[in-house]
Amino acid sequence: MRTKGGHSAVGLHYKSHQIIDGKPKLEGLPASFPGEEACQTLILTCEDPELKLEAELLYTVFEKEDIITRSVRIVNRNTEDIYLTRVYSACIDMDARDYELLTLHGSWARERQIERRKIGFGKQSVDSVKGESSHQEHPFIAWMSPETTQTQGEVYAMHFVYSGNFHAQIEKTQFESIRAIMGINDEDFCWKLGKDEAFTAPEVVLTYSAQGLGTMTRHLHDFYREHMIRSKYTHCKRPILINNWEATYFDFDTEKLLAIAKRASELGIEMLVMDDGWFGHRNDDATSLGDWFVNEKKITGGLKHLVDEVNKLGLKFGIWMEPEMISPDSELYRAHPDWAIAIPGRTPVLSRNQYVLDLSRKEVRDYVYDAISKILHSANIEYVKWDMNRQLTDIGSAALPADRQGELYHRYVLGVYELQERLITEFPDLLLENCSGGGARFDPGMLYYSPQIWCSDDTDAVERLKIQEGTALMYPLSAIGAHISVCPNHTVGRNTPFETRGNVTLAGTFGYELDITKIPQEDQEMIPKQVEMYHKYSDLVREGDYYRIASYRENHEFDCYMVTSKDRKEALVTFVQVIGRPNFHSRCVRLQGLNPDWNYRIEGTDGTFGGDALMNAGLMVESLWGDAQSRLYHLIAEV
Ligand code: GLA
Repeated sequence: MRTKGGHSAVGLHYKSHQIIDGKPKLEGLPASFPGEEACQTLILTCEDPELKLEAELLYTVFEKEDIITRSVRIVNRNTEDIYLTRVYSACIDMDARDYELLTLHGSWARERQIERRKIGFGKQSVDSVKGESSHQEHPFIAWMSPETTQTQGEVYAMHFVYSGNFHAQIEKTQFESIRAIMGINDEDFCWKLGKDEAFTAPEVVLTYSAQGLGTMTRHLHDFYREHMIRSKYTHCKRPILINNWEATYFDFDTEKLLAIAKRASELGIEMLVMDDGWFGHRNDDATSLGDWFVNEKKITGGLKHLVDEVNKLGLKFGIWMEPEMISPDSELYRAHPDWAIAIPGRTPVLSRNQYVLDLSRKEVRDYVYDAISKILHSANIEYVKWDMNRQLTDIGSAALPADRQGELYHRYVLGVYELQERLITEFPDLLLENCSGGGARFDPGMLYYSPQIWCSDDTDAVERLKIQEGTALMYPLSAIGAHISVCPNHTVGRNTPFETRGNVTLAGTFGYELDITKIPQEDQEMIPKQVEMYHKYSDLVREGDYYRIASYRENHEFDCYMVTSKDRKEALVTFVQVIGRPNFHSRCVRLQGLNPDWNYRIEGTDGTFGGDALMNAGLMVESLWGDAQSRLYHLIAEV
């Protein structure tokens, strides 16, 4: 921080504390809520008497999920302004053992790849200064003993409920202790706090498991499903959608969309989502962001006509929007060039041919909101895919004074939150899916607004195994956007069987992203079976306990995970043999989460096995013929 005198020292001391029932909301920020569970919050107030600065530390305990949340509220009681230059949300100090650090790294089309490394002396960190939680690093760190596996060992973890710049760091100190911190990245952060003004730092989710990573994962899944996702769809079956992005890219019109919708409805698909390219004069990614009016040259007859026709076919209708952006070639930019984030006198960097709107400004947010609301009122639109396709650069706002420019990154994120809050308040029945160039803004903050998030632009079944493994380490399968697409896959050029693509997609919100009128007949014929499969397993996958059995990322041969119902009476095991091996007949995969005292029948076979045998000896999986082959095993308890 900086005082008027230019000093940065701050000394906070205990002032008072109180324990209250429930959990206060964090103003303007996403945060967990008590839900059905009673919880209590400790508010610890500390003070720097010289500066007259107060810090309220909020701790809420969620006993059932073994989670403590922590956030910080800073209040300036001084008559002089104070500049906050760093407000982390949580800091943990503890004895160091021989710990390892787990983080998630990635890129576009390769999000959330798990990495484990030794924690040596000094500092190691992951962060984002991209204005979003990012493809590259994830606002999550876990530290654990080297022997920690899915099923045993201690693990501590921190996850940040925030969708902008973050910093997460672990330090092994000279005293062989560990210090872990997490919060808003202090790079380019400077927040002016006038008298009696408050700044609230976002929440961190803290958890501990003494039974390995698997227990941590299941606690986080339960926590996010029960205490973070507010949508009425959280515990509902989502419509099976077909999205036209990989089917047509920008080259579509009403006729093409209706042809896709018609065939989709015949095969049991439940919603058509019209992706990028329906507005302004957008036929590629170089124009029209900000001009949210329908391109009637493509959508002949208008949007309402298209939606009505789709509805007549028995399908719901969803739409893509990228509300945070502005193309230089747009009516909006010509009218308001200063609405783009830019530094005066410098030409801002274009990325995907677009600029970012300055959402710190109320008039910009109001414009964006009115545009979305108008579109949604114009037809029966039941789903929105809210995209965000570039990172923030050239950090400057034409509306903020010089001593508030350092607030722009955070004000931007608050602007996004305000917009999405308005949207789901005005349209409570809307199914919202967040997205950012694939999965660059897959974070707990966005879950507060949307029950599902597009996981990655990479729809290849094999790549998805790794991406979905990393994502499911923290997030419930009900939140993970997953679609079946065509082969050769548009991102990696790989061919995989249609059946395997379906089986892998089942571990998420199930959908299609292909031109259903053009795929081979045998693939089309498989769709009704996949639709049936989705309806059969959807409740189990959405609500159940997730167990990671084997990882293709680690063994380079096969992947296996399972979901068990909370009452243990049913389980679904997914096995994918990525690489076939010669002279190899079968392998045993040791299951988890079953009742050892019950017998389980494997549907479609005569086999009945004890839960104890399946967990200790394993399920015998025969070797399959070829690469990227997969099997689902549905286990039903005989009780
Ligand atoms: C992003 C999304 C894609 C698609 C395109 C459209 O990349 O992740 O799914 O919507 O934008 O431009």
